[in-house]
Amino acid sequence: MADTLPLPAFAPAVPPPAASSPAASSPAAAALPHRYDGVTIALHWASAGLIGLVWVLGQTRFFWPAGAPRSAVISLHILIGLAILAMLAARITWRLGRGRRLPPVGHGLAAAGARAGHLALYGLMGLTLLAGLAGVLGHGFTLFGTHLLPPLTLAGSAILKFAGGWHGVFANLLVLLAAGHAGTALYHRIVLRDATLARMLPRSFAGRESSPCSVYDV
Ligand code: HEM
Ligand code: HEM
Repeated sequence: MADTLPLPAFAPAVPPPAASSPAASSPAAAALPHRYDGVTIALHWASAGLIGLVWVLGQTRFFWPAGAPRSAVISLHILIGLAILAMLAARITWRLGRGRRLPPVGHGLAAAGARAGHLALYGLMGLTLLAGLAGVLGHGFTLFGTHLLPPLTLAGSAILKFAGGWHGVFANLLVLLAAGHAGTALYHRIVLRDATLARMLPRSFAGRESSPCSVYDV
């Protein structure tokens, strides 16, 4: 398959060829826009929503009174953060295995930019999550007032605390980049009127324009 795939504008939507029809395997069918698989789409939107939520919880923790309320907010933040970490591990495993990988939209610089942007999003998700975990291990793991793990007293504890200190910086960079990424997806939808956004939407939301190529659909 070609490394890059131009996406047609969605106004003149083309109905998908039947799986059994000869058109399904024709070059025209191969050029039809298609979507990521359901697992990739579910993990993308679940982690995007939860990242937004934990970021707000992290940034607003001092709005809560000190003591039990603030500790509950931070505990919730940590628990949801750990769930995002598990989702990221699942997402990477799935992507490297059976998950559907689509060629980037566009050509040349645009395609390289999309690839680099997605890689940076994965990288910043990993750095934010691991720095958060490092901070918790370095300072002691407490959930809802219960001390689960004491601060690590090994030589590595200074390193963990140092890494934890970068957690907020990575988190803010991640959210900034994700905002740019979302803006780009909306620009494709609203201004360029192509089917880039539809690639990451469930079929029921994606509309006719994203009619998947039967070769790629699950
Ligand atoms: C993508 C997921 C995450 C995002 C976007 C995020 C975001 C944030 C933000 C914006 C802050 C405030 C930082 C500041 O004011 O300097 C924060 C604080 C914090 N985060 Fe996260 N976080 C995430 C995941 C995690 C994880 C996985 C853990 C631990 C396992 C964690 C533990 C903490 C802790 C303990 C604080 C409070 C630090 C303090 O009170 O000094 N976070 N987080
Ligand atoms: C914290 C928020 C988000 C993160 C961390 C994130 C991360 C990612 C990553 C890593 C990919 C690459 C998928 C892959 O090839 O493996 C991706 C794809 C995509 N995302 Fe997001 N995303 C977020 C929010 C959003 C939002 C809000 C939108 C739409 C408004 C969006 C629309 C898309 C689309 C359309 C694609 C497919 C792009 C393509 O195929 O070239 N994302 N996202």
